[in-house]
Amino acid sequence: MHDLTSSGRSRNRASRRIVVGISGASGAIYGVRLLAMLRAANVESHLVASRSAQITLADELGMTLADVKKLADVHYPNADIGAAIASGSFRVDGMVVAPCSIKTLSEIATGCTSSLLSRSADVMLKERRRLVLMVRETPLHAGHIRSMGAVTEAGAIVYPPVPAFYAKPASLEQMVDQTLGRVLDLFDIDTEAVRRWQGLADSFAGARGGEAD
Ligand SMILES: Cc1cc2nc3c(=O)[nH]c(=O)nc-3n(C[C@H](O)[C@H](O)[C@H](O)COP(=O)(O)O)c2cc1C
Repeated sequence: MHDLTSSGRSRNRASRRIVVGISGASGAIYGVRLLAMLRAANVESHLVASRSAQITLADELGMTLADVKKLADVHYPNADIGAAIASGSFRVDGMVVAPCSIKTLSEIATGCTSSLLSRSADVMLKERRRLVLMVRETPLHAGHIRSMGAVTEAGAIVYPPVPAFYAKPASLEQMVDQTLGRVLDLFDIDTEAVRRWQGLADSFAGARGGEAD
């Protein structure tokens, strides 16, 4: 089975295509590493970043949007509300917002989408496609939690980038990649990044309720 891309080229449906939204929450590294991991996994990435993301990219990583665009297969300006990813007729497998600010979460929760990033996320929900929101804020007030409930009811997956200490990351990169690898698990995209739980070591038998030697 084939369909047509926006450029008219034929695309095998077996190839994967994911939209990556980078908003202005702390944790720009999640968006950058996600693009790199999608490239390594041969998945076509479509990037849209907010204006605030340019601030966090510069402040946290010393990167410009031009640097990040190089990691993506396709890039769209956030104001380009007529871009391909603004329409449900453009076939994609889903979208990850990494990281997702409370502002972007709130727009998605209400459907009042003021940018290509939030519009594209809204399209995922209406088309019943996978949408993962890596919401980054703490602490949370009731309105934040209500917005997370609303997007969950609409079909999104709220995936705060909470470190998995059981994976015993040796570096910040390992910690970030473990989280992103688990996000990509949700799309059935395999990566080398995930350290998968194999059960407790025998030396911890006591923790399972048995007696240690
Ligand atoms: C350095 C920096 C860090 C920020 N961190 C967060 C954050 O972790 N979570 C959040 O919701 N907003 C954070 N903000 C605020 C957002 O950038 C701001 O609300 C912005 O309007 C979000 O717009 P966007 O969702 O269109 O990117 C941060 C801003 C800056 C400058």
